[in-house]
Amino acid sequence: MKRDFLNISDLKKDEILQIIDYAIKLKKGNVQDQSLKGKSIGLIFMKPSTRTRLSFEVGVYQMGGQPIYIQGSSTQMSRGEEIKDTGRVMARYLDGIVIRTYSHKEVEDLSRYFDKPVINALTDYLHPCQILADLQTIYERFGKVENIKVAFVGDGNNVANTWLIAGGLIGFNVSVATPEGFEPSGKAVHEALKLAQETGASIEVTNDPVEAVKDADVVYTDVWVSMGQENEKEKKELFKEFTVNRHLLSHASKNAIVMHCLPAHKGEEISEEIFEEFADVIFDEAENRLHAQKALMSLLFK
Ligand code: CP
Ligand code: NVA
Repeated sequence: MKRDFLNISDLKKDEILQIIDYAIKLKKGNVQDQSLKGKSIGLIFMKPSTRTRLSFEVGVYQMGGQPIYIQGSSTQMSRGEEIKDTGRVMARYLDGIVIRTYSHKEVEDLSRYFDKPVINALTDYLHPCQILADLQTIYERFGKVENIKVAFVGDGNNVANTWLIAGGLIGFNVSVATPEGFEPSGKAVHEALKLAQETGASIEVTNDPVEAVKDADVVYTDVWVSMGQENEKEKKELFKEFTVNRHLLSHASKNAIVMHCLPAHKGEEISEEIFEEFADVIFDEAENRLHAQKALMSLLFK
């Protein structure tokens, strides 16, 4: 049975812990993994990318496979070829697909018509590869991913949605603070709360950034305007109280770290001063995209 990674909850908690452990081994150079030897992996990007594209291209190559970058606008998809036909055609050539696009449903549809692994490289709804690498980064700093508090401050976007589900699944506390009207997806909150019944995680959504950050071990932020929402620029005025700066951070735990998935808009969601203070963590997150995704692919393509 093929396995996809469309949502962080497509993996079991134990598998996530195994991926973190294996990613750290790969990072240290303790193991070489050639699980993709002779395999061709299509990387479909309907939106821009720096980290995700590069980390998958390099990762597939390092695992002995052939990465094929496919810019969405250069394909017949951009001229309306149906996803169910695209999926069935690609299944004749490729061994796996990594896709970044707008609609999450489109990725689910692709998975139905492509009989090998599909990896979600970001949709408007979720960004699970990012959170996998971030969990590795948290593990490297705290030696655990359970019994911590992650505060996400800013827009209730794909990254916020994924944090909520990850917290429920693994069993750490998540508090998401957004301005009114910019809360995370109700569907993600629902899934997180359901998962949290098993793990005991606390899942909170608030409009008060100070409340969210209180006693947090990780203060996380992301852009206020996500890809595809560029017409929402005027909303920035409403986000003024949601900048991660020294004042906000003073409410977090004494040893709190600040994380950002990048790209950053300094002076908006994060002050330049705090960004630079936590640059080591933030660029480790970017590096860990490579290792965590290699560990993920090793599991999916077994
Ligand atoms: N964090 C992240 O996904 O970065 P890119 O948009 O550059 O891939
Ligand atoms: N929320 C951002 C994440 C970028 C990696 C976006 O979707 O643009």
